Amino acid sequence: MATSASIARVIGEEVLDSRGNPTVQVTVVLDDDSLAHATVPSGASTGESEAIELRDGDRQRYGGKGVLNAVRHVNELIGPALMGLLADDQWRIDAVLIELDGTDFKSRLGANATLGASLACARAAAQACRLPLFRYLGGDEARVLPTPMLTVMDGGIHGNDGPDLQEFMLVPVGAPTFREALRFGVETYHALRDLLVERHTSTNVGDEGGFVPALSSNRAALDLVMQAIERAGYRPGEDISLAIDFAATGLWRDGRYRLSREGRDYSADEMVGLCREWGEQYPLVSVEDPLRDNDWGGYAQLTRELGDRMQIAGDDLFVSNRPFLVKGIAQGCCNCVVIKPNQVGTVTETLNTARMALAAGYSCMVAHRSGETEDTSIADLAVALNCGQIKAGAPARGERVAKYNRLLTIEARLGERAQYAGRAAFQRRR
Ligand code: PGA
Ligand code: ZN
Repeated sequence: MATSASIARVIGEEVLDSRGNPTVQVTVVLDDDSLAHATVPSGASTGESEAIELRDGDRQRYGGKGVLNAVRHVNELIGPALMGLLADDQWRIDAVLIELDGTDFKSRLGANATLGASLACARAAAQACRLPLFRYLGGDEARVLPTPMLTVMDGGIHGNDGPDLQEFMLVPVGAPTFREALRFGVETYHALRDLLVERHTSTNVGDEGGFVPALSSNRAALDLVMQAIERAGYRPGEDISLAIDFAATGLWRDGRYRLSREGRDYSADEMVGLCREWGEQYPLVSVEDPLRDNDWGGYAQLTRELGDRMQIAGDDLFVSNRPFLVKGIAQGCCNCVVIKPNQVGTVTETLNTARMALAAGYSCMVAHRSGETEDTSIADLAVALNCGQIKAGAPARGERVAKYNRLLTIEARLGERAQYAGRAAFQRRR
């Protein structure tokens, strides 16, 4: 599976993400003429300790969001440093990037610059080896198609005037294949749209393609999604379960969590209570970031109380960063880590965090960002890890659907060897 092709050119460019914000695209050309691009996504509800996304800050361009400096780092610093390295020596490539940057959170080069280069090298090497990316990264064992977590309602900062909670997701645990899981999800998404039309509620969508209805409470959002599942002819909990990303750091006001749709503030204990209550009343298999991102003690308690009943996923808490995950494992925080390559800035660090999590009995949810691109690498990453979960937004909007379409292709390519994760992805090992 090795290639002797080496890196000949590394080209950075400024392109746009799905919100119309600038982002970094990197093209890597090898000396055997293999060529690949990678484009970096961008979050909005970012964790405090995420690797630094370098923005120009020049308000004359894109309100300060330009990435020309990060692009210059790719062209003038990263390119020369990687030139001549073997393309399939990902560990070495990423070690060079980490050393060249020299900071804890990629603040010199920018994680948008380093991830773009790192991922484009992986993609180019896969090309040179004539292997699909999932196979190149995961080897012959890579064959588990992840259970999709399909965001059908957007709230928080991804959907103004919608629910307080950021993402309400469908999890087609009972589907026999990925292709069928996607159909379950799409049909329910369309049924939800019909319900909103009947109620004369807006069918506008948020950043991740989920609907953003103005409802009286977050519970009303859950009820509506449940109704949509039934309207589409599926059994809640049997065919399709639910997941929520609270993105609770964004709810934190004056020492409490403000759910303005419910018209009240919640303490950390009350947030745990809410998770418990909803876990009893709805087929809720996963809650992500139900507490703010520095409440390690709160997470440990939440995991003790509810960790045997539902998946507790840490996104802003772990920021895909191995040392944070190690701290979480030691303290018993969460039982799942959300994996977003741009939170940490290289392919190797991303894989290391995910593999550490799996080794410790945590589950891994590979995830998109709210500002996405046409790049589908996370679909391959989820299969490479055999981790069984991917969160890539609604089954609508090109940049979201691209990931799901890539998984359809991977499933077809694997043929009989493909295995759909389904409910097993949520069976806790810890
Ligand atoms: P973000 O949101 O990409 O805006 O950070 C996604 C998430 O919180 O999971
Ligand atoms: Zn999240």
